[in-house]
Amino acid sequence: MDAIVGERHIMLVRLKQAEENLKNSRDQLRALAARLQSIRENERAVIAREIHDEFGQALTSLQLGLSWIAGKLTPKQQPLQEKIKSLSALVTSMIRSVQRIANKLRPGVLDELGLVKTLKSEAREFEGRTGIRCGFETNAGKATFDRLGAVAIFRIAQAALTNITRHAHASGAIITLMKRKNYLILTVNDNGKGITKKLIYSHDSLGIIGMRERTLALDGTLTLKGSKSKGTTLTVRIPLSRVLIGTASSSLVQDNTQ
Ligand SMILES: Nc1ncnc2c1ncn2[C@@H]1O[C@H](COP(=O)(O)OP(=O)(O)OP(=O)(O)O)[C@@H](O)[C@H]1O
Ligand SMILES: [Mg+2]
Repeated sequence: MDAIVGERHIMLVRLKQAEENLKNSRDQLRALAARLQSIRENERAVIAREIHDEFGQALTSLQLGLSWIAGKLTPKQQPLQEKIKSLSALVTSMIRSVQRIANKLRPGVLDELGLVKTLKSEAREFEGRTGIRCGFETNAGKATFDRLGAVAIFRIAQAALTNITRHAHASGAIITLMKRKNYLILTVNDNGKGITKKLIYSHDSLGIIGMRERTLALDGTLTLKGSKSKGTTLTVRIPLSRVLIGTASSSLVQDNTQ
């Protein structure tokens, strides 16, 4: 009898140890994922800056050079003038492409406009690009977000919109960004075919896993719900203290009253 009790005790201790090990390695993986995400954003920022500075400057010089040559041409040199005009138009469109690529790599608009206005313009752009109606609602217009938090929320919203374009077969979508109590809540909803439970939790759903990791890095939670009649809703809930700049406890009290 004693031997059985002893063995059971040993097994329980081992099980506890295994659970502890599993938890530790899960925590480590989570920390690694967060670190990789931040390295990725930093690298994107460096590449964006290099593209912007190197190509942007070279193209601007090219543009100036072309204008200079155009100024030296006489009215008789019509074919040359036309050639320079078309080259100059090409350079202008390349400058725009460079800006677009750099902006995609590092959403500079986030610094200029802030998260709320960036999401609003993303919704408008999404609607123009895809033809899927896209609304935006918020009560956080006055909040100032910390850059890391803003980038994470923006990337999650972008990934959710990309999923809608690629998978949902929707005709409409709505993004909301709300301050409720001590939380910031982002939702992205569509009226499409609805994501299945299996896909929400699949190991192959790397896009969703990436969104969840970004959320967990900010101590938040992410849920996805799908239904054939109601489409898909993504909800991300993050403590305000992790995303707002200078969230002292006094300002949290103020936020509660809004
Ligand atoms: N809004 C949606 N409506 C319907 N199905 C969706 C929606 N979002 C995601 N899904 C389904 O869930 C799957 C997993 O999405 P996830 O974003 O993880 O991967 P993905 O979009 O296929 O690839 P990527 O890694 O490029 O994001 C999708 O392949 C799609 O079948
Ligand atoms: Mg995806």
